[in-house]
Order: sequence, then C-alpha cells, then structure tokens
Amino acid sequence: MTTNTSTGQQSVLAASHGLPSCWASPSTSLVPVTYSSVAVCLLSRFCKSFFDSAATLAVYITATRIIIAIFAFLVAAFLVDCALKPRYPHSLPRVGYGDSLLATLRNWLGYVFHFNEWVDEGYNKFSKHNRAFVVPSAASRPQEIVVPRNQTAWMLDLPDHVLSAHAAHDDVLYTDYNFLFDAHSHTRAYAAKHGLPPLPPRGSASEHHDRKQSPVDEDFHARVIHRNLARHLPGLLPAIEDKVMLAVDAAFGTDGDAGEDGWRTVTLWDAWIAMVPPIINLLLVGPDACQDASLMSTYVKFADTVVTNSFLLSMFPKSLHPLVGRLASIPNRRLWRRTHNYLEPLIKERVQRLMTEAPSTTAGKETPLVSEDYITWHIRMALAEGRFAELDPVAISKRLLPIEFAAIHTTVITGFFVMIDLLTSDPAFIQGIREEVQSVRSSDPDVVASGHWTKSSLARLWRTDSAIRESQRHSHFATSLVKRKVIAPGGITNAAEGWHVPYGGLLMLDLAGTHHDPDLYANPDAYDAFRYARQREALESSASHGDTTEKEHQPAKTAAQITADAMRGLKLGMVTTSDSHLAFGHGRHACPGRFFVAHKLKMFLAYLLTNYDIKPLEERPKTMWVGQTIIPPLAVKVEVRRRKTQA
Ligand code: HEM
Repeated sequence: MTTNTSTGQQSVLAASHGLPSCWASPSTSLVPVTYSSVAVCLLSRFCKSFFDSAATLAVYITATRIIIAIFAFLVAAFLVDCALKPRYPHSLPRVGYGDSLLATLRNWLGYVFHFNEWVDEGYNKFSKHNRAFVVPSAASRPQEIVVPRNQTAWMLDLPDHVLSAHAAHDDVLYTDYNFLFDAHSHTRAYAAKHGLPPLPPRGSASEHHDRKQSPVDEDFHARVIHRNLARHLPGLLPAIEDKVMLAVDAAFGTDGDAGEDGWRTVTLWDAWIAMVPPIINLLLVGPDACQDASLMSTYVKFADTVVTNSFLLSMFPKSLHPLVGRLASIPNRRLWRRTHNYLEPLIKERVQRLMTEAPSTTAGKETPLVSEDYITWHIRMALAEGRFAELDPVAISKRLLPIEFAAIHTTVITGFFVMIDLLTSDPAFIQGIREEVQSVRSSDPDVVASGHWTKSSLARLWRTDSAIRESQRHSHFATSLVKRKVIAPGGITNAAEGWHVPYGGLLMLDLAGTHHDPDLYANPDAYDAFRYARQREALESSASHGDTTEKEHQPAKTAAQITADAMRGLKLGMVTTSDSHLAFGHGRHACPGRFFVAHKLKMFLAYLLTNYDIKPLEERPKTMWVGQTIIPPLAVKVEVRRRKTQA
C-alpha cells in the first residue's frame, strides 16, 4: 500500500518535472530515490537517444559524403581566405591563369609546378621594361608583386614599419607554428608582469614604433647576429679551420678506410649535411655542445620539419592554420624540447657567469672565460639592453631555432651545388683553385707561421671566392630570397609606376631572372667559376699600371683611380650584395651570416680540393622545383680519393 501510494506520488512528481517515467518505476520505487539515480537514469536515456539518432544518421553517412563534406569545408575556408587577401590594382599586369574564381583555383595548383615559368615569363615581359607584375603564390598566401630591378632601392629603403622583412619571413616560414607560436610568450608575460607596454601583435595598425626600444623585441636574435657574428669571426678562424678539417676527413674518409684502389663512393648531400652543422654550431652553441652528434641531428631534423611544414601550411587555407599549424608543429615542439633539455644547464651556467662578471667586462668585447658564440652574445646583449626576460633559458633555446634554420640548409645547399658545378664543368677550375690555395698558403708569412688561415689570407683566395659566388648565381636554390610585407596600415604607393598596395601585400625581388639575365651576365646559363676572379685580376693589373711609367701608351693612374679600382675589385667578392646578385639578399636585412659562410666555405673547398681527388660527374644531376624552392638531387654520389701529395 505504502509503496503504491509512494509510486503514485512519484509518478505525479515525475510528470510535473518532466522527468522520465523510470524515476517512478516500480523497480526504483523500492529503493530511496536519490539525485544520482536520476542522473544515471537521464544519462542512460540520453545515451539511448544519442545512439538511436547516430544509428539513423549512420545510414546517411557514407565515405563519399564525408569526402564531399571535407571538400566543401575546405572550399569554404579557401573562399574566406580569398575574401581576406589584399587586392592589387588592375593596372598591374599579371602572369598565371588570371583572376577569376576558377583561375584562382588553377593558380593555387599551378603554383606548385609553374611558379618559375610564370616568374620567368613576367621577367621578360615586364621586369625587363622596368614594370612590376603580379604572380600567383601559394594558396595560403597573397599573390606576390615582383618588383623590377630598377626599383630595388625603393623597395629596400622603405622603413621596417612600412615594408617589413621580418613580417614577410614570418608569413613565408609560418614562424608562429614552425618556431613555436608561444616563442615570445615569456617575454610578453614578463612585460605584462612588470607593467611594461607590450608589443602589439605583428602587423596591427598600431605598429609604428621602434622595435629596438620596445620591451619585447621579436627580432632580438637577428640583431644579436647582426651585431656580433662578423666582428668575432677573425678570432674564431683557427677553431673553425680545425673543425673543417676534421669534418672533411670524417665525411670523405682518410687513407685508412679507402678501398684497394683508394677510391670510395660518397653521397654528396649526406657529406655536406654531416659537415656543416657542427661548424655552424661552434658559433651558435659553443665548442663542446657542437660536438654532440645527437644535438646536431636534432637541429637538422628540426630544419627539415620546418621545410615540410612550410610547404604543407602554404597549401592549406590560412583560416585553418590555427588547427593545422598546431598539429603540424607537434614534432617541432618535441625536437625543440630535446635541444632545450640539452642546452639548459649550459645556458644557466653561462648566464650565471656573465651576470657575475664586472659589468664593464660583460658589456665589453671580451670575456675570456666564456666561449664566443650566440649564447654568450645573446646574454651580453640582453644584459646591456636590460632585457632580463631574454635571459630565460627557454627564450634562448627558442631563439636559436630560426637561426639554426637560416644557417644549416642554406649553407649545405650552397656547398653542395658548388661541388656539383665544379664537378660538371672544366676540370681546369679545380686545378686553378688548388694552385691558388697552395700559392696563398705558402706565401703568407702569418699562415706559414701559424699553420692557419687568417682573415687577410682568405681574402686573397679570389678564384675560390669566385667559384662560390658564381655557383650562388648559377645554381640558385630559390626563385626569390628577398620578400617584404606591407605593414603600413594605409599601404604603400610606388612613385615610379603609381600603383598602390594595401596592408598585407607581399613584394618580392626576382633572384632567378636577375641572375640569368644576359644583359647582366655574359653567357648567363654557363657556370664560369672564375667569372669574378678574372674581373678582379683585370682590375688589379689595371691598378698596377698606375705606378708603371714605362707603359707610354697608357697614362699613369691617379691615386684616386687606383683606390676606386681596388674598391671595385672588393665589390666582386662573395659577401658583396647588389641588385644583380641577391643570393644573400640585399640592403639592411642582407644575411648577417654571409661573412661566416664565405670564410668557412673557402676553408672547406681549400682543404677538400687540395687533399682529395674527385672524379668529375658524367652529367649534371636533374633537379626538381616545388613552388619557389628547389628539391636538390639528394642521391648524387661522387668518387673520392685521398691525395698522396697536395697539388
Ligand atoms: C649560404 C648560406 C646562407 C645564405 C644563402 C643565406 C641567405 C640569406 C638571405 C637571402 C636572407 C634574407 C635577406 C633579406 O630578406 O633581405 C638571410 C637572412 C638571415 N640570415 Fe642568412 N644565409 C646563409 C647563411 C646564414 C648563416 C650561417 C647565418 C647565421 C649563423 C644566417 C643568419 C641569417 C639571419 C639572422 C638573417 C635575418 C637577417 C635580418 O632579417 O635582418 N644566415 N640569409
């Protein structure tokens, strides 16, 4: 009776609260009703109806429909991207398939295989007539405006808060994801904690400030390299040379490992990728850490991941990057963590040491007890500028990432192609380099005394220098290496042609077209290793006529003319950038690592060619291009033999 009455009351209650009838069922009515039993009951109801609906839906879900849904989603994301991209004036000529919606889709696919052809076509049709043109770019990026050579100075002289190199690098390399999107969060947090005005997000309308004066400087690492690398190089040359010799011996073998006839087969790319990272890292993480093979291979893997991720992200709509980028950069984070774990004790110890040095010593040039490398320079500059958040080991190990990327693959690919160029052209070039190396080494008293290259003796290796510079011209690995993004809120106007580009527009210089322009280079498609050396020799011999009075038919040169000739000669060296040689960029953001590259590549070539015979390659290996970047022929093998006597 009691039970029945109770059940009846519960049924009424249940009904009045809209609860399911199980709440009042005879079975539950025997146990005290609790909220948890109601919850369980509700959950089971929910699950039942969910699975019922899912079962009904499952009938409609087929693989084809899923694919269609994903495709529709992607198209919608691309359309959102399209709507948000900057628009360029119609007065600018275009290459590619055109501007319609369908043409835009074709452009995105065409970009992967036809970018070079398009730029080439535009170079001949427009750049040669001093006109800018628009070329389609990767799906996630705005189209690019190719600025003609005669407007290089205009483009590169615009201030950073108007046309930004770093914003362009960020967009092209997807820095937020590849170099870990919270890379600067610690500095931002520090600024917030200490009540300092935080740096506005990149590209915002309020970005009219001097980064150097800002409490958070996202380009701090690039400034550290600009300020320190070149000036510390001369003192580091002997250590670099020792490492170069060890690296070449390890990669190309010594007599002890050779086969019967002394020849061995070496995969060229593998040799360069093994040789370069320790030498670069001698100047980045110091003499001990650079010897750690696992740290070096982690940095190489990191650089590889950046390359793959950049391609992946370039093909995905930008609106999906927050998802795709975070997923794609999981390996980057894991690899960075590995490097961080290794470097953290070293960085902490270095910070401790540099902080306890007398301020005059830490701010000055020399601190004898620490090695001269990026970590030291970073800490010194952070202390000197009062950027204490930059002393965080996380900040330092993350700032190393973009530098490792900028340094490793660029150097490897340059050295690799110098070898390919030399081994597929006149053998007299290699012989000429050997003779030069031997002559400079034996005639320079400092080199003879110390047994090491000096800055001035390396500067006399004109042929070696020329062989590298010419390879950078001939075998470029990217269509363009100089890009700038418009970050002035009101956009920019080009005075020469009158076009206006809004905020977000991307400008580039055409390296490929310039380097192969017959009006700038005689026989531009040939690798002429001593192209620049010959010009320097001609200038030197003409300068030497200044003091030869016996040449009656030539008037003696004035001191000013001789100096001018010497300067012109210097400008033909590989560290000199110009609007017709863009391998290291040009202008104030030109690569600050190029002096280091020049020294170490000359040392590599000098040691390698004088200590090894290398059989010429029968034919030039085929290369492939994806978008704006070359895919090097990684499988190329060379036959090498240790030389008994140096040439
Ligand atoms: C053959 C090797 C290399 C090549 C071809 C190369 C090329 C370049 C190019 C084209 C730029 C962009 C210039 C611009 O936007 O105008 C650049 C920037 C940069 N490079 Fe290199 N680079 C090489 C090696 C290195 C090395 C070894 C380091 C450091 C150790 C380095 C550090 C940097 C840095 C920090 C920047 C950014 C400069 C700035 O934004 O102001 N590079 N490099």
